[in-house]
Amino acid sequence: MKHFTSVQDIGDLKQALEKAKQVKEHPFADQELGRNKTVMLIFFNSSLRTRLSTQKAGMNLGMNVMVLDINQGAWKLETERGVIMDGDKPEHILEAIPVMGSYCDIIGVRSFAQFENKADDYNEVILNQFIQYSGKPVFSMEAATRHPLQSFADLITIEEYKMRERPKVVLTWAPHPRALPQAVPNSFAEWMNAADFEFVITHPEGYELDEQFVGDAIVEYDKEKAYRDADFVYAKNWAAYRDPNYGRVLSTDRDWTVDAKKMALTNNAYFMHCLPVRRNMIVSDEVIESSRSIVIPEAANRVVSAQTVLKEILLTM
Ligand code: CP
Repeated sequence: MKHFTSVQDIGDLKQALEKAKQVKEHPFADQELGRNKTVMLIFFNSSLRTRLSTQKAGMNLGMNVMVLDINQGAWKLETERGVIMDGDKPEHILEAIPVMGSYCDIIGVRSFAQFENKADDYNEVILNQFIQYSGKPVFSMEAATRHPLQSFADLITIEEYKMRERPKVVLTWAPHPRALPQAVPNSFAEWMNAADFEFVITHPEGYELDEQFVGDAIVEYDKEKAYRDADFVYAKNWAAYRDPNYGRVLSTDRDWTVDAKKMALTNNAYFMHCLPVRRNMIVSDEVIESSRSIVIPEAANRVVSAQTVLKEILLTM
């Protein structure tokens, strides 16, 4: 694997899941593989899980790990070419990227959608600049349109908990006070479609996702109908995708909060969320604290997904 930015890069999903299982069972088996190799983790946005799990994954592989928060301690970066740099950004990303590339062997990048220009977001301008100019393998730690390390961990978790070969998985929009990117739901949809589960997406009208990610999923606007017989309920907020509302909050209707009443419609479903989660907006205390909530093992599997991906990149270097 040269770069890792979407489900396409992981290859055969069954094989990837088997590799992940091996990594989970023997986390220190590949310490020699990463010896004297450096992974640099670059954050344009905040993180708890991605930061810590990817560092841990690198350390499990015997790698050196460097972390840079672009907006805390580094020079502010200009990202557009052709700009007269007489403002508050003293460094251009086109110099910064190859410099960072010269200090490491693999680069992880977190760069969210900015909701200023839909085309820039959906063309993954920042992530693709790292791929083009760093000279190093690049992996996404959540970019503008996808969060593949999260989705891989989600899939690993579903495989561990599922009671039937082809479970019913429901992705439900849930309310949030701020505009959040579509990266997690886009990516989750992409991976669930690739896994060929029974996959249903439910959201209020106006929150339709990009069709390239929805794929073969059933879109059901009646949330009670969507929840019925679900084996997994995956909650996430996202801002509107479609024009002219791209990046806007259209609803904060708490009727969409995941609560015990809706979960009672399911096949005793497990509750999932990528975290961080706003309690009693996205999900009730009762549901997230219930025995069917698997948000903690889901987050723990972030180490497994990151380590599996880093290992694959190291093997092809
Ligand atoms: N789920 C996830 O990516 O968490 P962080 O934003 O804390 O990294």
